[in-house]
Amino acid sequence: MSTPFAIRSSLLHCRRDPGLAGERAAIEAIDDALTLIDGERIAAVAPASALLPTLGAEVTILDRRGQWLLPGFVDAHVHYPQVDVIASYGAQLLDWLDRYTFPAERAFADLAHATAAAEFFVDRLLENGTTTAAVFCTVHPGSVDALFTASEARGLGLIAGKCLMDRHAPPGLTDTPESGYRESKALIERWHGHARSRYAITPRFAPTSSDAQMRAAAQLAREHPDVYIQSHLAENRAELAWVAELFPGHRSYLDVYEHYGLLRDRALYGHCIHLDDADRARLSVTGARPVFCPSSNLFIGSGLYDLRQALAAGNTVALGTDVGGGTSYSMLRTLGEAYKVQQLLGTSLTPAYSLYLATLGGARALGLDDEIGSIAPGKFADLALLDPQATPLLARRSGQREDPLDTFFAMMTLGDDRAISETWVAGRSVHRRGRTGERLR
Ligand code: GUN
Ligand code: ZN
Repeated sequence: MSTPFAIRSSLLHCRRDPGLAGERAAIEAIDDALTLIDGERIAAVAPASALLPTLGAEVTILDRRGQWLLPGFVDAHVHYPQVDVIASYGAQLLDWLDRYTFPAERAFADLAHATAAAEFFVDRLLENGTTTAAVFCTVHPGSVDALFTASEARGLGLIAGKCLMDRHAPPGLTDTPESGYRESKALIERWHGHARSRYAITPRFAPTSSDAQMRAAAQLAREHPDVYIQSHLAENRAELAWVAELFPGHRSYLDVYEHYGLLRDRALYGHCIHLDDADRARLSVTGARPVFCPSSNLFIGSGLYDLRQALAAGNTVALGTDVGGGTSYSMLRTLGEAYKVQQLLGTSLTPAYSLYLATLGGARALGLDDEIGSIAPGKFADLALLDPQATPLLARRSGQREDPLDTFFAMMTLGDDRAISETWVAGRSVHRRGRTGERLR
């Protein structure tokens, strides 16, 4: 068991949902804070002046004054096999899948390739201060083993699953309703609840699963009510038209998933751009969660996700990078893009709600807000330390005003992995800027 230690820094997190308007009282900012960590968990948080005198001599104090301690970020939608697909030119969704994504994913039949990609991916999460993520693997069960092996070695709690896809994909990238069911079931038994890992039943999206496979996915979901479901929904207009052809007679794309029993609590749907009021109402009633993926939606040209509309309908929204459709693993950059998308829709996303989306709100959408998402005693010490001086421009801009939320806004607009100086997972330092890959604490 490691000895207790404390981080002395500024601190910023959400106590609760600040709402889109960004209620200030929902945010806690402490200029000179001490966060005491004992083993995997946070033991105490308070102004340094109050906590310092109570600490025993055995507690090491890391002096990080001038930097901001935040809860580690939650990326609710990302594809680890797409590390080599990021920044692929000139295609919208369906062409992009055929031209870039499917060819790249075929290589994951090879466990050595999957293992190397998983290690690389997990280190990118950590250097960006992301400590929880819901991750798509490929159709190959070994791709899931590779990812959870890499994430557990770093103490991370990832949610992940093998893609179910039995049609409209190239050879080497399909399963069958039976094999997909059997392989997913074995992976659930191996990984769900092992260390901090959790499994997600992952029908890739409706076009790549037959009726029989959708039924098999729903059967798995019924047999494992505490397992996650993740998929894609209403991302692109051509995709919508294709789904209407493949599954005739449904009121909407969302209705296809609902018909099979795949909308429920712990079900995460990437994108959800082209929904109507009835769809948004069904998300709220069933407890399924939309994941806003702004950099991907812009890069693939999919559309503008209207956060105000989603929240007005009572949806619990999370935020995702969606790399390789997305263009950065940084949740700061993802928030910067989210801000611009909402600006185009006439809403200025508040810094407080932005912070919430990337931390406590993401945790809540994943049903993990009792474990992660804020800096509170009893929660996992999954933490990111942000440096407002990380670049000359950031230092100059963040020095302009005293407000911590303004500093956060500057970091989400100008920052990226350079602004993450240190990341802890379950109390262990797993990244220090410039020292990724070294074993630290
Ligand atoms: N829809 C089905 N598969 C994918 C994928 O890999 N990325 C994105 N952005 N959308 C998808
Ligand atoms: Zn995706």
